[in-house]
Amino acid sequence: MYFDTHTHLDDARFDEDREAVIEKVYQSGVTLAVNIGADMESSHVSADLALQHDFLYAAVGVHPHEVENLTEEDMETLKQLADSKKVVAIGEIGLDYYYDNAPREKQKQWFLRQIELAKELGLPYIVHDRDAHADTMEIIKKSGYFRGVLHCFSGSVQMMQELVSMGFYISFAGPVTFKNGKKAKEVAALVPLDRILIETDSPYLTPEPHRGERNDSSMVRFVCQELAQIRGLSEAEMAQITMENGKRFFGI
Ligand code: NI
Repeated sequence: MYFDTHTHLDDARFDEDREAVIEKVYQSGVTLAVNIGADMESSHVSADLALQHDFLYAAVGVHPHEVENLTEEDMETLKQLADSKKVVAIGEIGLDYYYDNAPREKQKQWFLRQIELAKELGLPYIVHDRDAHADTMEIIKKSGYFRGVLHCFSGSVQMMQELVSMGFYISFAGPVTFKNGKKAKEVAALVPLDRILIETDSPYLTPEPHRGERNDSSMVRFVCQELAQIRGLSEAEMAQITMENGKRFFGI
């Protein structure tokens, strides 16, 4: 039984067959998954989707690509959405300096503001950090609230160790299965076992051996297999460890 801690089943790429995919995911042994909001619209949909399926939970929040026109009213809306018992985190939030779709000052402002929201609500948060490691660390430290996970972690061993010492969890997605995923594999070999989460980030980041296909949460087992191999554990052991970690992190 697997816990996919980061998926986007609300994505338009599932519009044709969403319910069939959700059923397939559950039948494949994924008995828990968190659907992640990326803007105001998907946060609403995410919260709704979680109410419709027992094994689905939701995170609400605004991705750095989408923060340019955010308002305090939107923060109020997120707060209301988080009233639902099935909303278990704020996310995904963070910084993306690879695409720079929104001005960096706005990205930083709303990253910090949404961490504060998580703190206010007593929820964990999910961080997207692409090519923005230094500023991500700076804002996390500035917030003083460390109940978070770095999703699809792409930083160094040193950064991972600093985050773990602060209390963070580290999540791995498809890239850890890639042949050129050497850095992620190095980090995966050293993360304390009680801080590892697994995810698909579907429909993106499809793991080996399915690269090129649409990703969905059933493929989280390939991430689990890779981590099990790296750590010298059975796949079942790694599935159980990441299940327990995920439940603890999200309070499920
Ligand atoms: Ni994502």
